[in-house]
Amino acid sequence: MREHAPKLYIPLPRKTSTRGLALPQASRWSTFRTMVFFPRGALLLAPMVGITNRAFRTLVHELGDADWYTTEMASAEAFLAGGRNESAYLDPAPCPARTSVQFAARTPEALAAACRALSKMPDVQRPAGIDINMGCAAPHIKASGRGAALLDDPARAREMVAAARENWPGALSAKIRLSAVQGEEGTVLLAKALAAAGLDFLVVHARFDTQKFRRKVDHGFALLLAQELSIPVIANGDISTAEECRSLLASGKMHSLMIGRAAVREPWLFRRLHAELSDVPERPHEPQDILAIGLRYIDLAQAMLPPEWQKETCRRVFWYYADNVSFAHHLRFSLVNAPTLEAMKASLTQYFNEVPQDRYR
Ligand SMILES: Cc1cc2nc3c(=O)[nH]c(=O)nc-3n(C[C@H](O)[C@H](O)[C@H](O)COP(=O)(O)O)c2cc1C
Repeated sequence: MREHAPKLYIPLPRKTSTRGLALPQASRWSTFRTMVFFPRGALLLAPMVGITNRAFRTLVHELGDADWYTTEMASAEAFLAGGRNESAYLDPAPCPARTSVQFAARTPEALAAACRALSKMPDVQRPAGIDINMGCAAPHIKASGRGAALLDDPARAREMVAAARENWPGALSAKIRLSAVQGEEGTVLLAKALAAAGLDFLVVHARFDTQKFRRKVDHGFALLLAQELSIPVIANGDISTAEECRSLLASGKMHSLMIGRAAVREPWLFRRLHAELSDVPERPHEPQDILAIGLRYIDLAQAMLPPEWQKETCRRVFWYYADNVSFAHHLRFSLVNAPTLEAMKASLTQYFNEVPQDRYR
């Protein structure tokens, strides 16, 4: 059997300890909520706007299954106002019992009302969890006090969690980044306050909210948080191999892992990683039919999403998925510029007619 020598992400010595610093009083929930929604070492699908809609989650489910899914970010206010596509944003299929809807909200009141409304949905339309977006750094999101703006306003972030907790009996999580304003120490304090306000688990994408993807993610910070918090911490960012998963989980402190872009490149990634991480000897690699999977995604988008979302989601998914072939730029360009879904299907088919050796991976 292959021996792996995982590169360990050992947290760098941090300048100050946050132990013993005063925290806001814990809400009543934190004293008795110890729910477990997925096992240790679970692999979760990250929320991605325009991508992790019902069609993409169905594709992942068909090709091997994540342990937990997150929808793309939805607006609590638009949901309450009955926006045209809100039922598509909030659709928890195909795995409602293992899916969180992610909300961005302008006020704790709006988040509370959205949580309350969602909790009254019939079973098949009700997700298992709600995740609060505290990481989106898009200017229009931050300017309205949502997403990463909450990292810089710990009192308000805590109010958001408390408001959601009071109105939502299912899994409650938040997805954060490192606050450039609060620094590492301040972000740890914030995370502790959020946990005390009633989160069941916390996802950390350990880049500063001001950093782009070009900078490496700081998993050392995610490990520090996992040590400091009493709720499960989920690390996210740049994870794509079994070796990276092993090294992040090796200390036993990190509860689970969340994967985004790598799962768009390889929608079968969760099955591959689960197989490589299991103690059972690996089965021979089953080749994936890159053409059939691409065509299947177009069909799922057509069948499951509002018409105005269909082309855009295919473009976003194929932007990453094109990396599976030798002439990725060429395929990406022709797919992104295809005027219709039928034209996208034709481009995909033509590529594999021209380069048949790329079809199976
Ligand atoms: C296209 C795209 C859309 C994203 N949309 C969201 C979102 O709606 N909510 C969120 O919390 N994070 C969002 N993110 C961030 C991802 O969830 C994740 O934190 C980030 O991509 C790092 O993980 P990865 O390296 O595994 O992709 C998005 C990222 C990408 C690339």
